[in-house]
Amino acid sequence: MNLLQFRSLAEKIFADVRELTFDGVGVTRASYGEGEAAAADYLRQLALSEGLEVYADRAANLIFRRPTSEPDAPVIWVGSHMDSVPQGGNYDGLAGVTAGLLCLIARQREGRTDALPLEVVGFRGEESAWFGKAYVGSSALFGKLSDADLALPQRVSGAPLSEYMEKAGADMDAVRAQEVLVNKDRIKAYLEVHIEQGPVMVARSLPLAVVSGIRGNFRHNHVVCVGDAQHSGVVPRWLRHDSMFAVADLIMRLDEHWRVLLERGTDLVVTAGVVNTDPAEHSISRIPGRVNFSIEARSKSTDTLEAFYQLMRAECTAISRERGVRFEFDRRVLSDPATMDEDVCKVLSGACAAQGIPFEVIPSGAGHDASLFANAGIPSGMLFVRNQNGSHNPREAMEIEDFMLGVQVLSDSLDELPQTKALVAG
Ligand code: GLV
Ligand code: MN
Ligand code: MN
Repeated sequence: MNLLQFRSLAEKIFADVRELTFDGVGVTRASYGEGEAAAADYLRQLALSEGLEVYADRAANLIFRRPTSEPDAPVIWVGSHMDSVPQGGNYDGLAGVTAGLLCLIARQREGRTDALPLEVVGFRGEESAWFGKAYVGSSALFGKLSDADLALPQRVSGAPLSEYMEKAGADMDAVRAQEVLVNKDRIKAYLEVHIEQGPVMVARSLPLAVVSGIRGNFRHNHVVCVGDAQHSGVVPRWLRHDSMFAVADLIMRLDEHWRVLLERGTDLVVTAGVVNTDPAEHSISRIPGRVNFSIEARSKSTDTLEAFYQLMRAECTAISRERGVRFEFDRRVLSDPATMDEDVCKVLSGACAAQGIPFEVIPSGAGHDASLFANAGIPSGMLFVRNQNGSHNPREAMEIEDFMLGVQVLSDSLDELPQTKALVAG
């Protein structure tokens, strides 16, 4: 099946959804909010105009399928997310849903019968930027949202996640009861196409890459370092309780631990993405009495995450003692690392090789809904498409030629997967 002919449709989808969700700087598709809904409505209309069926699952994710699909028959799922970070790029998430939809449209137009039919899923709420928790839509599907998760406040309104999910049409009784909202047994494989979001593929001139695994993470969305707000001119160094110097000290200590761990070959990245004093009270002449910050670490290894977490807390205790401050932590939020299925990776690699496309097998630093599927025991695989200028920023870019190669390899892999050992055995 030649998917390259869908290039102009792909370009149209990206241009239309960008226009619908442009915020003046980048695109904003808030999880369970306006931009995500606009993208979802657009994709729904497009699918319906192609004669496809679209329905919302009980977590309000969108499922696209052919009308000939039987509801309980075994299927392959292809998906990604419809939301974005604030002022983000157009391709993070949307590229994957579009890739799946193009494969589905091609099969529908050709009227072909597949050994394992394709269903495409557009997830809501993948980006942690909005509620401080990643993978909300796919977590709900697998019954993995706790009451504490559902109470997480939206970054602007402060209203709880549960309220937003309910408004989007999710069945909150089922979500609260942690029901598994999908028949896992019928999903024989899960595939996700995604832009790389990092600089490696550009540096190595690779249009595509097969993903070996996905880093997990721990996060605290809100930590407060409490010191003593005082006149900046009168308190000598030895009597100060400066929460800003304390937070800076913490970050520098973590950087040094990180450097040493990297030298030992440990997989780890560490970020304090939010650091602020309160503009209502801060001033050039005031020793900061409160600093708010977030902390996140990611690794392929759960053990590394736990060890680094304990190290971080131990440094907070030491700094508290040395500087006379205290750290107040909100709930720790965890995402598990995941390994992609070896047989599915082989199929994706084989499809790249058959097309003569240079590729490598690389790990994913970013998080993806695929990790939920892999950790639920569903054979899962991901294909990265090269992209420019990184991601989670409005400069994120992607060449349409690279994307179409990804769509072709996805389609070829969908044809090949029903023959693979893992799926036949499953
Ligand atoms: C997902 O976008 C992530 O933060 O890894
Ligand atoms: Mn993202
Ligand atoms: Mn993404």
